[in-house]
Amino acid sequence: MSRFICRKLAAGFDCGWFRGTILGQVAMLFTTAMLASQPVYGGEISPKFVPGEVWNDTDGKPINAHGGGVLYHQGVYYWYGEFKTGKTYLPDCNKSWGGTRVDVVGVSCYSSTNLYDWKNEGLVLPAVTDDPQHDLHPSKALERPKVIYNKTTKQYVMWMHIDSASYAAALSGVAVSDKPTGPFKYQGSFRPNAGVWPENVTDADKVKSDANPLARDFEKGQMARDMTVFVDDDGKAYQFYSSEENPVMHVSLLTDDYLRPAGKYNRIFIGRKMEAPTVFKHAGKYYVIASGCTAWEPNAARLAVADQIMGPWTELGNPCEGTDADKTFRSQSTFVLPVQGRKDTFIFMADRWKQWDLPDSRYVWLPIEFDDQGKPILRWHDTWSLDSNQNHNQASAKGANGVVARQR
Ligand code: GAL
Repeated sequence: MSRFICRKLAAGFDCGWFRGTILGQVAMLFTTAMLASQPVYGGEISPKFVPGEVWNDTDGKPINAHGGGVLYHQGVYYWYGEFKTGKTYLPDCNKSWGGTRVDVVGVSCYSSTNLYDWKNEGLVLPAVTDDPQHDLHPSKALERPKVIYNKTTKQYVMWMHIDSASYAAALSGVAVSDKPTGPFKYQGSFRPNAGVWPENVTDADKVKSDANPLARDFEKGQMARDMTVFVDDDGKAYQFYSSEENPVMHVSLLTDDYLRPAGKYNRIFIGRKMEAPTVFKHAGKYYVIASGCTAWEPNAARLAVADQIMGPWTELGNPCEGTDADKTFRSQSTFVLPVQGRKDTFIFMADRWKQWDLPDSRYVWLPIEFDDQGKPILRWHDTWSLDSNQNHNQASAKGANGVVARQR
């Protein structure tokens, strides 16, 4: 149903005679249901985020961009993510840890100028169905795509986690495009930092053994699973990836064209098994919000801060507060989105995975608040909006960043 009809119906409820009729009652129920199932309304009805509910695009279809990230470029936000469709199944190789999957279809892109209304721009990096060996074959894994823009080469560069169905390959894939809406051209995959020791390596780290994946993988490159990329104010870009069988994260400088590791990296969060990294910068400090390592099951988020992006990083505990804080509000981090033109305004983007119906996994977007010491805090909101002037006709809580939210 179009928003126009929705708004008309909503307006109709102001007429007492219409509300009094059976048709009026039916229309009111129907419209209420529609309003509840669609997160966002422009016009007379306040636009809002509704974390965890189905979020429709401008065609009225559920947005399909999981494990995603957002690029802001020339007035437009582009949301890239895993397009998940079809049957969710559990391959034999992943039975021991419940690693359900759907076949790879590709990376989707949606565009928006207001962050509420998203237009489907289609699959910008589709699967390659006719070559079973190809990284993008449906039988492989393609997760957590993130796109950054290189001002010098004028290329849009997509980084993603590429893997075999069993997640043993642990590779980083790169694709490029000269337009944000693609098509992206796949460049291939690799294990980052082959033949290079991290800057903070110790002598013990260099001793080869099966129990030491850093040294074991020195020649062929480091394992790279969950990942993100971050562009700093000086234009330098970094990849954060879960490595060494997952217990250690690496922060790795990229080459100036953003296409490869530059050969300078550090081991961080050693032994902490952190996944799903997000990175942002606020008031001169760098922050990571990541998850623990429990596959599709949610766990408590981890917050960390650093003065330099390469570290040292200091963990600050779980940034979530309130009910379900120990499960990141039943979701897992995927990106932190700086809202353009609004000081101190960041959106925490997360996935509420449905292990047995992955395409119906939902998005949890929440405002990041900062306490008196500048520490990021996440609180649940049933609905919220960016615009402090909007009236939700409900009790609302105003955060320091002007975000208006209705609390549970
Ligand atoms: C999660 C990871 C997801 C996906 C999943 C597979 O831990 O964050 O991106 O790989 O495991 O079960």
